[in-house]
Amino acid sequence: MRYSFGTVKIGPRAKSLIEKSLEKHWVSGGENVKLFEKTFAETFSYKEAVAVSSGTAACYTAVAALHEFGADWGDEVIVPALSFVATSNAVRAAGFKPVFVDVKKETLNIDASKIEEKITKKTKGMMVVHTMGKPCEMDEVLEVAQKHHLKVIEDSCEAHGAKYKNQIVGGMGNSGAFSFYAAHIICSGEGGMVSTNDPEMAPILRSVRSHGRPDGTDYFQFDRFGFNCKMNDLEAAVGIEGIENFQNIFDLRKKNLNTLLSQMKPLEKYFYLLQEEKYEVVSPHAFPLVVREDVNLDASHLSNYLMEQGVQVKTLFGSLPTQHRAFQSLGHKLGEFPNSEYIGKKGLHFGCHQYLTQSDLDFVTDLVTGYVKKYI
Ligand SMILES: Cc1ncc(COP(=O)(O)O)c(C=O)c1O
Repeated sequence: MRYSFGTVKIGPRAKSLIEKSLEKHWVSGGENVKLFEKTFAETFSYKEAVAVSSGTAACYTAVAALHEFGADWGDEVIVPALSFVATSNAVRAAGFKPVFVDVKKETLNIDASKIEEKITKKTKGMMVVHTMGKPCEMDEVLEVAQKHHLKVIEDSCEAHGAKYKNQIVGGMGNSGAFSFYAAHIICSGEGGMVSTNDPEMAPILRSVRSHGRPDGTDYFQFDRFGFNCKMNDLEAAVGIEGIENFQNIFDLRKKNLNTLLSQMKPLEKYFYLLQEEKYEVVSPHAFPLVVREDVNLDASHLSNYLMEQGVQVKTLFGSLPTQHRAFQSLGHKLGEFPNSEYIGKKGLHFGCHQYLTQSDLDFVTDLVTGYVKKYI
Protein backbone atom coordinates (compact mmCIF):
# COMPACT_ATOMS: atom_id res chain seq x y z
CA MET A 1 0.00 0.00 0.00
CA ARG A 2 1.41 3.36 -0.98
CA TYR A 3 -1.10 5.26 1.18
CA SER A 4 -1.84 3.49 4.46
CA PHE A 5 -4.49 4.14 7.05
CA GLY A 6 -2.03 4.53 9.86
CA THR A 7 1.16 3.07 11.21
CA VAL A 8 3.13 2.99 14.43
CA LYS A 9 6.83 3.73 14.73
CA ILE A 10 8.30 2.71 18.04
CA GLY A 11 10.98 5.16 19.18
CA PRO A 12 13.69 5.24 21.87
CA ARG A 13 11.39 6.32 24.73
CA ALA A 14 9.06 3.32 24.26
CA LYS A 15 11.98 0.97 23.69
CA SER A 16 13.64 2.02 26.93
CA LEU A 17 10.38 1.59 28.90
CA ILE A 18 9.89 -1.85 27.33
CA GLU A 19 13.48 -2.73 28.19
CA LYS A 20 12.93 -1.77 31.84
CA SER A 21 9.84 -4.00 32.02
CA LEU A 22 11.77 -6.90 30.53
CA GLU A 23 14.58 -6.42 33.04
CA LYS A 24 12.05 -6.52 35.90
CA HIS A 25 10.50 -9.70 34.50
CA TRP A 26 7.11 -8.04 34.83
CA VAL A 27 5.16 -7.23 31.70
CA SER A 28 1.60 -7.32 33.02
CA GLY A 29 0.08 -4.03 34.23
CA GLY A 30 2.55 -2.13 36.44
CA GLU A 31 4.60 1.07 36.44
CA ASN A 32 4.12 1.81 32.74
CA VAL A 33 0.35 1.44 32.89
CA LYS A 34 0.24 3.78 35.89
CA LEU A 35 2.39 6.36 34.11
CA PHE A 36 0.33 6.09 30.92
CA GLU A 37 -2.90 6.64 32.88
CA LYS A 38 -1.43 9.61 34.75
CA THR A 39 -0.03 11.28 31.64
CA PHE A 40 -3.21 10.67 29.65
CA ALA A 41 -5.38 12.16 32.42
CA GLU A 42 -3.07 15.17 32.84
CA THR A 43 -2.76 15.85 29.10
CA PHE A 44 -6.51 16.13 28.65
CA SER A 45 -7.40 17.29 32.19
CA TYR A 46 -9.51 14.29 33.09
CA LYS A 47 -9.74 13.52 36.82
CA GLU A 48 -9.07 9.83 36.17
CA ALA A 49 -7.99 7.56 33.36
CA VAL A 50 -8.24 3.76 33.44
CA ALA A 51 -6.15 1.83 30.92
CA VAL A 52 -7.66 -1.25 29.28
CA SER A 53 -6.76 -3.74 26.57
CA SER A 54 -8.57 -2.13 23.59
CA GLY A 55 -11.07 0.52 22.57
CA THR A 56 -13.71 -2.17 22.57
CA ALA A 57 -12.76 -3.01 26.16
CA ALA A 58 -12.96 0.72 27.01
CA CYS A 59 -16.53 0.86 25.63
CA TYR A 60 -17.37 -2.37 27.43
CA THR A 61 -15.88 -1.26 30.77
CA ALA A 62 -17.65 2.10 30.61
CA VAL A 63 -21.03 0.58 29.77
CA ALA A 64 -20.74 -2.39 32.16
CA ALA A 65 -20.18 0.14 34.97
CA LEU A 66 -23.83 1.19 34.49
CA HIS A 67 -24.80 -1.94 36.47
CA GLU A 68 -23.52 -0.04 39.49
CA PHE A 69 -25.77 2.93 38.76
CA GLY A 70 -29.22 1.36 38.58
CA ALA A 71 -29.04 -0.52 35.26
CA ASP A 72 -30.14 -4.14 35.21
CA TRP A 73 -29.61 -7.01 32.73
CA GLY A 74 -31.72 -6.43 29.63
CA ASP A 75 -32.01 -2.66 30.14
CA GLU A 76 -31.50 -0.35 27.18
CA VAL A 77 -28.62 1.85 26.09
CA ILE A 78 -29.02 4.34 23.25
CA VAL A 79 -26.34 4.17 20.51
CA PRO A 80 -26.00 5.60 17.00
CA ALA A 81 -27.06 3.24 14.22
CA LEU A 82 -23.85 4.10 12.39
CA SER A 83 -20.58 3.46 14.18
CA PHE A 84 -17.76 0.98 14.32
CA VAL A 85 -19.35 -2.26 15.54
CA ALA A 86 -17.55 -2.18 18.90
CA THR A 87 -19.85 0.51 20.31
CA SER A 88 -22.94 -1.69 20.05
CA ASN A 89 -21.13 -4.96 20.72
CA ALA A 90 -19.92 -3.51 24.02
CA VAL A 91 -23.51 -2.74 25.01
CA ARG A 92 -24.54 -6.31 24.21
CA ALA A 93 -21.52 -7.80 25.97
CA ALA A 94 -22.38 -5.86 29.12
CA GLY A 95 -25.86 -7.40 29.13
CA PHE A 96 -27.87 -4.49 27.70
CA LYS A 97 -29.93 -3.97 24.57
CA PRO A 98 -28.60 -1.42 22.09
CA VAL A 99 -31.37 0.94 20.98
CA PHE A 100 -30.39 2.60 17.74
CA VAL A 101 -30.85 6.21 16.68
CA ASP A 102 -30.13 7.41 13.14
CA VAL A 103 -27.23 9.79 12.42
CA LYS A 104 -26.95 12.98 10.36
CA LYS A 105 -25.35 12.76 6.92
CA GLU A 106 -23.48 16.01 7.40
CA THR A 107 -21.85 15.08 10.72
CA LEU A 108 -21.94 11.25 10.71
CA ASN A 109 -22.98 11.63 14.37
CA ILE A 110 -26.12 10.67 16.27
CA ASP A 111 -29.05 12.96 15.47
CA ALA A 112 -29.65 14.31 18.98
CA SER A 113 -33.16 15.48 18.08
CA LYS A 114 -34.16 11.82 17.58
CA ILE A 115 -32.89 10.46 20.91
CA GLU A 116 -35.84 11.32 23.13
CA GLU A 117 -38.38 9.35 21.08
CA LYS A 118 -36.34 6.17 21.73
CA ILE A 119 -36.25 6.53 25.51
CA THR A 120 -38.31 4.02 27.49
CA LYS A 121 -38.53 3.03 31.17
CA LYS A 122 -35.70 0.59 30.50
CA THR A 123 -33.27 3.18 29.10
CA LYS A 124 -30.36 3.61 31.51
CA GLY A 125 -27.74 5.36 29.45
CA MET A 126 -26.44 6.37 26.08
CA MET A 127 -23.16 5.85 24.34
CA VAL A 128 -22.71 8.57 21.74
CA VAL A 129 -19.81 8.46 19.28
CA HIS A 130 -17.64 11.36 18.09
CA THR A 131 -17.32 9.83 14.64
CA MET A 132 -14.23 10.61 12.54
CA GLY A 133 -13.05 13.04 15.22
CA LYS A 134 -16.07 15.32 14.96
CA PRO A 135 -17.73 16.00 18.31
CA CYS A 136 -21.42 15.17 18.76
CA GLU A 137 -24.04 17.80 19.55
CA MET A 138 -23.21 17.47 23.25
CA ASP A 139 -25.45 20.30 24.52
CA GLU A 140 -28.50 18.50 23.18
CA VAL A 141 -27.23 15.06 24.25
CA LEU A 142 -26.55 16.21 27.82
CA GLU A 143 -29.87 18.03 28.05
CA VAL A 144 -31.85 14.89 27.15
CA ALA A 145 -29.67 12.82 29.49
CA GLN A 146 -30.26 15.19 32.38
CA LYS A 147 -34.00 15.30 31.76
CA HIS A 148 -34.25 11.49 31.80
CA HIS A 149 -31.52 10.82 34.41
CA LEU A 150 -29.33 8.87 31.99
CA LYS A 151 -25.60 8.29 32.17
CA VAL A 152 -23.66 9.40 29.11
CA ILE A 153 -20.65 7.57 27.73
CA GLU A 154 -18.69 9.34 25.00
CA ASP A 155 -17.16 6.83 22.61
CA SER A 156 -14.17 8.98 21.73
CA CYS A 157 -12.15 6.19 20.14
CA GLU A 158 -11.83 8.25 16.94
CA ALA A 159 -11.58 11.63 18.62
CA HIS A 160 -8.44 11.97 20.76
CA GLY A 161 -8.13 15.62 21.76
CA ALA A 162 -11.32 16.84 20.01
CA LYS A 163 -13.14 19.72 21.68
CA TYR A 164 -16.74 20.90 21.81
CA LYS A 165 -17.26 24.47 22.99
CA ASN A 166 -13.86 24.46 24.70
CA GLN A 167 -14.52 21.19 26.47
CA ILE A 168 -12.52 18.10 25.76
CA VAL A 169 -14.39 15.02 24.51
CA GLY A 170 -14.48 12.19 27.01
CA GLY A 171 -14.89 14.72 29.83
CA MET A 172 -18.42 16.00 29.25
CA GLY A 173 -20.40 12.83 29.94
CA ASN A 174 -19.85 10.40 32.82
CA SER A 175 -17.04 8.62 31.01
CA GLY A 176 -15.22 8.46 27.69
CA ALA A 177 -13.76 5.52 25.75
CA PHE A 178 -10.55 5.69 23.68
CA SER A 179 -8.83 3.26 21.32
CA PHE A 180 -5.09 3.05 20.73
CA TYR A 181 -5.30 0.70 17.75
CA ALA A 182 -2.97 1.32 14.79
CA ALA A 183 -4.97 3.93 12.90
CA HIS A 184 -5.56 6.13 15.95
CA ILE A 185 -3.72 9.29 17.01
CA ILE A 186 -2.24 7.75 20.14
CA CYS A 187 -1.33 4.19 19.33
CA SER A 188 -0.11 1.37 21.55
CA GLY A 189 -0.57 -1.50 19.11
CA GLU A 190 -3.71 -2.61 20.91
CA GLY A 191 -5.06 -0.72 23.88
CA GLY A 192 -7.71 1.58 25.23
CA MET A 193 -8.52 4.04 28.01
CA VAL A 194 -11.62 5.08 29.91
CA SER A 195 -11.63 8.70 31.04
CA THR A 196 -13.86 10.10 33.74
CA ASN A 197 -14.36 13.23 35.81
CA ASP A 198 -16.87 11.44 38.01
CA PRO A 199 -15.18 10.42 41.29
CA GLU A 200 -17.77 7.67 41.87
CA MET A 201 -17.10 6.14 38.46
CA ALA A 202 -13.30 5.61 38.57
CA PRO A 203 -13.16 2.79 41.19
CA ILE A 204 -16.02 1.01 39.44
CA LEU A 205 -14.17 1.16 36.11
CA ARG A 206 -11.00 -0.22 37.74
CA SER A 207 -13.03 -3.01 39.26
CA VAL A 208 -14.87 -3.92 36.03
CA ARG A 209 -11.62 -4.19 34.06
CA SER A 210 -10.29 -6.63 36.65
CA HIS A 211 -13.01 -9.29 37.14
CA GLY A 212 -15.11 -7.08 39.44
CA ARG A 213 -12.50 -7.01 42.18
CA PRO A 214 -12.92 -4.08 44.58
CA ASP A 215 -11.06 -1.28 42.75
CA GLY A 216 -9.11 -3.99 40.95
CA THR A 217 -7.12 -5.00 44.03
CA ASP A 218 -8.07 -7.87 46.38
CA TYR A 219 -7.31 -10.97 44.34
CA PHE A 220 -10.19 -13.28 45.27
CA GLN A 221 -12.95 -10.88 46.15
CA PHE A 222 -15.50 -10.15 43.44
CA ASP A 223 -17.97 -7.34 44.06
CA ARG A 224 -19.64 -6.98 40.68
CA PHE A 225 -19.70 -8.39 37.18
CA GLY A 226 -16.38 -7.78 35.50
CA PHE A 227 -13.94 -9.09 32.98
CA ASN A 228 -10.22 -9.20 32.40
CA CYS A 229 -9.49 -6.33 30.07
CA LYS A 230 -6.37 -4.89 31.68
CA MET A 231 -3.60 -3.27 29.67
CA ASN A 232 -0.06 -4.62 29.93
CA ASP A 233 3.18 -2.69 30.51
CA LEU A 234 4.54 -3.32 26.98
CA GLU A 235 1.52 -1.70 25.34
CA ALA A 236 1.59 1.09 27.91
CA ALA A 237 5.25 1.81 27.02
CA VAL A 238 4.24 2.47 23.41
CA GLY A 239 1.23 4.50 24.55
CA ILE A 240 3.41 6.67 26.83
CA GLU A 241 5.60 7.64 23.90
CA GLY A 242 2.42 8.50 21.96
CA ILE A 243 0.86 10.62 24.67
CA GLU A 244 4.14 12.45 25.35
CA ASN A 245 4.20 13.38 21.64
CA PHE A 246 0.48 13.95 21.42
CA GLN A 247 0.48 17.63 20.40
CA ASN A 248 3.11 17.11 17.75
CA ILE A 249 1.27 14.14 16.22
CA PHE A 250 -2.07 15.93 16.46
CA ASP A 251 -0.69 19.03 14.70
CA LEU A 252 0.89 17.02 11.88
CA ARG A 253 -2.31 15.08 11.30
CA LYS A 254 -4.43 18.21 11.52
CA LYS A 255 -2.24 19.86 8.89
CA ASN A 256 -2.78 16.82 6.65
CA LEU A 257 -6.51 16.83 7.26
CA ASN A 258 -6.75 20.55 6.47
CA THR A 259 -4.61 20.14 3.34
CA LEU A 260 -6.89 17.34 2.11
CA LEU A 261 -9.96 19.43 2.90
CA SER A 262 -8.66 22.42 0.96
CA GLN A 263 -7.38 20.32 -1.96
CA MET A 264 -10.70 18.45 -2.19
CA LYS A 265 -12.82 21.62 -1.75
CA PRO A 266 -13.64 21.76 -5.51
CA LEU A 267 -15.26 18.32 -5.06
CA GLU A 268 -17.68 19.61 -2.45
CA LYS A 269 -20.58 19.59 -4.88
CA TYR A 270 -20.10 15.82 -5.25
CA PHE A 271 -19.30 14.81 -1.68
CA TYR A 272 -20.18 15.74 1.88
CA LEU A 273 -16.81 16.74 3.35
CA LEU A 274 -15.96 17.09 7.04
CA GLN A 275 -16.91 20.54 8.36
CA GLU A 276 -15.28 22.09 11.40
CA GLU A 277 -17.52 24.62 13.16
CA LYS A 278 -16.13 27.63 15.04
CA TYR A 279 -17.11 26.15 18.39
CA GLU A 280 -15.31 22.82 17.92
CA VAL A 281 -11.92 21.26 17.36
CA VAL A 282 -12.18 18.25 15.06
CA SER A 283 -9.63 15.58 15.83
CA PRO A 284 -7.71 14.44 12.71
CA HIS A 285 -8.62 10.76 12.82
CA ALA A 286 -9.21 10.17 9.09
CA PHE A 287 -10.70 11.68 5.96
CA PRO A 288 -14.35 10.74 5.27
CA LEU A 289 -16.18 11.27 1.96
CA VAL A 290 -19.92 10.72 1.43
CA VAL A 291 -21.34 10.96 -2.09
CA ARG A 292 -24.16 13.54 -2.28
CA GLU A 293 -27.72 12.44 -3.13
CA ASP A 294 -27.95 13.99 -6.60
CA VAL A 295 -24.58 12.63 -7.74
CA ASN A 296 -24.46 9.46 -9.78
CA LEU A 297 -21.27 7.96 -8.39
CA ASP A 298 -20.74 4.43 -7.12
CA ALA A 299 -18.81 4.72 -3.84
CA SER A 300 -17.73 1.07 -3.86
CA HIS A 301 -16.39 1.43 -7.43
CA LEU A 302 -14.44 4.52 -6.33
CA SER A 303 -13.22 2.64 -3.28
CA ASN A 304 -12.02 -0.32 -5.40
CA TYR A 305 -10.30 2.06 -7.80
CA LEU A 306 -8.43 3.78 -4.96
CA MET A 307 -7.42 0.42 -3.47
CA GLU A 308 -6.09 -0.73 -6.85
CA GLN A 309 -3.96 2.41 -6.94
CA GLY A 310 -2.49 1.65 -3.51
CA VAL A 311 -4.74 3.67 -1.18
CA GLN A 312 -6.07 1.86 1.86
CA VAL A 313 -9.78 2.70 1.92
CA LYS A 314 -12.56 1.63 4.27
CA THR A 315 -16.33 2.09 4.12
CA LEU A 316 -18.08 4.24 6.71
CA PHE A 317 -19.35 1.31 8.80
CA GLY A 318 -22.97 1.26 7.62
CA SER A 319 -26.15 0.90 9.62
CA LEU A 320 -25.40 -1.79 12.21
CA PRO A 321 -29.02 -2.85 12.86
CA THR A 322 -30.06 -3.08 9.21
CA GLN A 323 -26.97 -3.63 7.08
CA HIS A 324 -25.05 -6.15 9.20
CA ARG A 325 -26.04 -9.75 9.80
CA ALA A 326 -24.66 -9.69 13.35
CA PHE A 327 -27.63 -7.56 14.45
CA GLN A 328 -30.35 -9.37 12.46
CA SER A 329 -31.76 -11.05 15.55
CA LEU A 330 -32.85 -7.64 16.89
CA GLY A 331 -35.48 -7.57 14.14
CA HIS A 332 -34.86 -4.19 12.52
CA LYS A 333 -35.89 -3.61 8.89
CA LEU A 334 -34.07 -1.79 6.11
CA GLY A 335 -35.42 1.75 5.85
CA GLU A 336 -35.54 2.36 9.62
CA PHE A 337 -32.24 4.27 9.63
CA PRO A 338 -32.16 6.03 6.26
CA ASN A 339 -29.14 8.24 6.84
CA SER A 340 -26.98 5.50 8.32
CA GLU A 341 -27.99 3.18 5.48
CA TYR A 342 -27.22 5.87 2.94
CA ILE A 343 -23.77 6.48 4.43
CA GLY A 344 -23.26 2.72 4.55
CA LYS A 345 -23.67 2.61 0.77
CA LYS A 346 -22.22 5.98 -0.21
CA GLY A 347 -19.47 6.63 2.33
CA LEU A 348 -15.78 5.83 2.54
CA HIS A 349 -12.76 7.05 4.43
CA PHE A 350 -8.98 6.95 4.26
CA GLY A 351 -6.11 8.07 6.46
CA CYS A 352 -4.56 11.46 7.26
CA HIS A 353 -1.83 10.15 9.55
CA GLN A 354 1.36 11.92 10.57
CA TYR A 355 3.73 9.97 8.30
CA LEU A 356 1.96 10.95 5.06
CA THR A 357 3.87 13.43 2.92
CA GLN A 358 2.57 16.28 0.76
CA SER A 359 3.22 14.07 -2.24
CA ASP A 360 0.96 11.36 -0.71
CA LEU A 361 -1.78 13.94 -0.14
CA ASP A 362 -1.43 15.19 -3.74
CA PHE A 363 -1.51 11.59 -4.94
CA VAL A 364 -4.83 10.78 -3.27
CA THR A 365 -6.36 14.16 -4.22
CA ASP A 366 -5.41 13.61 -7.88
CA LEU A 367 -6.86 10.11 -7.80
CA VAL A 368 -10.23 11.20 -6.41
CA THR A 369 -10.37 14.28 -8.67
CA GLY A 370 -9.40 12.24 -11.74
CA TYR A 371 -12.01 9.63 -10.92
CA VAL A 372 -14.77 12.23 -10.57
CA LYS A 373 -13.79 13.85 -13.89
CA LYS A 374 -13.86 10.48 -15.62
CA TYR A 375 -17.09 9.09 -14.20
CA ILE A 376 -19.33 12.14 -13.73
C1 LIG B 1 -15.94 4.45 17.45
C2 LIG B 1 -15.11 3.27 17.84
N1 LIG B 1 -15.43 2.60 18.96
C3 LIG B 1 -14.71 1.54 19.37
C4 LIG B 1 -13.60 1.13 18.68
C5 LIG B 1 -12.87 -0.11 19.13
O1 LIG B 1 -11.51 0.09 19.33
P1 LIG B 1 -10.48 -1.15 19.25
O2 LIG B 1 -10.31 -1.49 17.81
O3 LIG B 1 -9.25 -0.61 19.88
O4 LIG B 1 -11.07 -2.26 20.03
C6 LIG B 1 -13.22 1.80 17.52
C7 LIG B 1 -12.03 1.36 16.75
O5 LIG B 1 -11.64 1.85 15.77
C8 LIG B 1 -13.99 2.89 17.07
O6 LIG B 1 -13.69 3.54 15.94
